[in-house]
Amino acid sequence: MPQNVIEIHGLTKIYTMGEVEVRALAGLDLVVDSGEFLAVMGPSGSGKSTLMNILGCLDRPTAGSYLLDGVDVSKLDRDERAVIRNAKIGFVFQSFNLLARTSAVENVELPLIYGDLGWSRAERHQAAMHALDRVGLKGRENSHPSQLSGGQQQRVAIARALVTEPAMLLADEPTGNLDSRTSEEIMGIFQKLNDSGKTVVLITHEPDIAQHARRVVTVRDGIIQHDEKVEQHRVDLRGIPPPVAPVAAEATR
Ligand SMILES: Nc1ncnc2c1ncn2[C@@H]1O[C@H](COP(=O)(O)OP(=O)(O)OP(=O)(O)O)[C@@H](O)[C@H]1O
Ligand SMILES: [Mg+2]
Repeated sequence: MPQNVIEIHGLTKIYTMGEVEVRALAGLDLVVDSGEFLAVMGPSGSGKSTLMNILGCLDRPTAGSYLLDGVDVSKLDRDERAVIRNAKIGFVFQSFNLLARTSAVENVELPLIYGDLGWSRAERHQAAMHALDRVGLKGRENSHPSQLSGGQQQRVAIARALVTEPAMLLADEPTGNLDSRTSEEIMGIFQKLNDSGKTVVLITHEPDIAQHARRVVTVRDGIIQHDEKVEQHRVDLRGIPPPVAPVAAEATR
């Protein structure tokens, strides 16, 4: 039975600052099916980050309900949210957030270590190698972030988000630090993952980037103002050369 990954009704978030109340989300409704590729757009101050924080179980709403992969997470406390977050969501951020002195494969293994899934070291390593292969980084598993381009670093971050097999990938401006060519490449990776069934939710303020999704919702004043299926702008990853193996240290001396 296909299940909604996100089912939100009447989502409200009110920030109280002294006497002043800011209604960041004003009764928002949103349903996202398994396998969708959704982009969330909207002007500054419209409530995107507030929505993202609640979608990602980083914060909870003032009122309204949120079912994530069938689980009501709207009333969970901080610790309970952390457990659900590790199990159900893979995050990708604008600033790749990789550990600098740690190889690509070790970065990707981290959520499996912190997630405490009871996997053996060998199983974690194998899953991380496979996730790197899925984002086109076979051969670069032992490179450190400083030896990788921005796009390759973001691929490592996507592999790290994938490795726990979450119910959805939640990406917050994932191309914000990348040039337009590399942004296309990263959107191609998301498309490839979505083609294979992964649910992707992307927050972006760039219309060009949103066109790579299959559905675009526009948030304004804390509610969804537009919700439309779009003709997906497809990226052909075949035009993108495979990563070159790192030059051996001896050869550069
Ligand atoms: N922690 C907070 N305390 C008080 N008000 C807040 C807080 N976070 C956000 N707001 C207010 O809530 C509203 C929505 O903010 P939000 O950050 O969700 O917008 P946004 O769509 O992400 O904007 P941007 O595109 O600029 O990032 C704004 O009016 C903002 O000032
Ligand atoms: Mg924001």
